[in-house]
Amino acid sequence: MNCFYYLIILFQLILIVSSQNPTVEIVKTEPAANKGRVIYAQRDEDVTIWCYVENLRPLTKVRYQKTSKSPTGKVQLIDISENERPKDNTKYAIEKPKDFTWRLRIKSTQTHDSGVYSCYIRISEYKSEFSNVTLIVFSKPTFVDHKTTSDAEYKKDEHVKLQCTTEGDPKPYIEWTRVGNALLPIGRERSENPVLDISRIQPQDRGLYRCRSWNMMGEISRQIAVGVLFPPVIEASYSIVKQTEGYLIELQCLVEVNPSPTTAYWLKEDGEIIARSNGRYAVNTFKGAFGHYTIELVINGVKSTDYGSYSCYVTNVIGTEHQSVTLIRSDVPMPSFKQGKIISSSSMIKSSYFIMIPLFLCTFL
Ligand SMILES: *[C@@H]1O[C@H](CO)[C@@H](O)[C@H](O)[C@H]1NC(C)=O
Repeated sequence: MNCFYYLIILFQLILIVSSQNPTVEIVKTEPAANKGRVIYAQRDEDVTIWCYVENLRPLTKVRYQKTSKSPTGKVQLIDISENERPKDNTKYAIEKPKDFTWRLRIKSTQTHDSGVYSCYIRISEYKSEFSNVTLIVFSKPTFVDHKTTSDAEYKKDEHVKLQCTTEGDPKPYIEWTRVGNALLPIGRERSENPVLDISRIQPQDRGLYRCRSWNMMGEISRQIAVGVLFPPVIEASYSIVKQTEGYLIELQCLVEVNPSPTTAYWLKEDGEIIARSNGRYAVNTFKGAFGHYTIELVINGVKSTDYGSYSCYVTNVIGTEHQSVTLIRSDVPMPSFKQGKIISSSSMIKSSYFIMIPLFLCTFL
């Protein structure tokens, strides 16, 4: 009798199980969804959704659909697939890796693929069983080349707008800095404005600028070389130089200029132009880094007629500038600026003897 009861209960249980309602569940996604069932995907990446359906009745179809909002706020519904058949197989694929599993692959996702994806079955005219997951397609920033400044040269005092434009989703941040930690021309270390507005560009503003842009999906950066063309800016090493007759002395002009000088010479107050080394004069140009030059006049064995004012003239395509250096008589001999010791015109001869004698010896031995 007891046994009979048990059998009845067992039969009832079997009946309940077999008549159980079908269930639909999205069991897995790639990339994985977060706790709020949201998938964040990178643009151009494939997204896969696994839907597991239990107790599916014959002839019931497993479907996927997508609901999204258009930019105007209108709800749009797209039927993606019915059983194993996607409507648009360039965009979607349905695979059946296992019984009861319908796997949807969204190929190369784009921003407009964002929306709610539902796997569902229709149980009756009025009842459907859903499982949903939300997809948000994001993209890391990329440069908008035609709206981003390239390497360029500007004339001093020109109004310059350096532009850095990127696009991405979510809207990327932008930051301007200078390479080597110099301040931006606007007087700050960094700027978040996509346009760096330099009202009157100055020689010290030239160099490398960096534009960095980022959002939650990634970061990019670009360096922009900014050149400034300006006439020579000249400073004398010493504006007054002293020397006794018969000794060597150098007059020097320190020049900053871009582009490179086309000519550099010295003009004496009596109108004599000293453009190249000649007799007691040596005219030298030394090139330093970053548009710096030294223009030098070496007078070997100063004579009384040498005292007076000299001007160095430097020209480039932008303009000509000059700076004066005065040579005055000194009671005591002064050391050469470059060699740090006193050099008389006779000691020049002596030193050349020192070179000549060993040379002679070498040739004879
Ligand atoms: C799933 O999506 C469908 C279609 O947009 C909607 O009708 C349903 O309410 C959603 N279900 C849940 C649990 O969000």
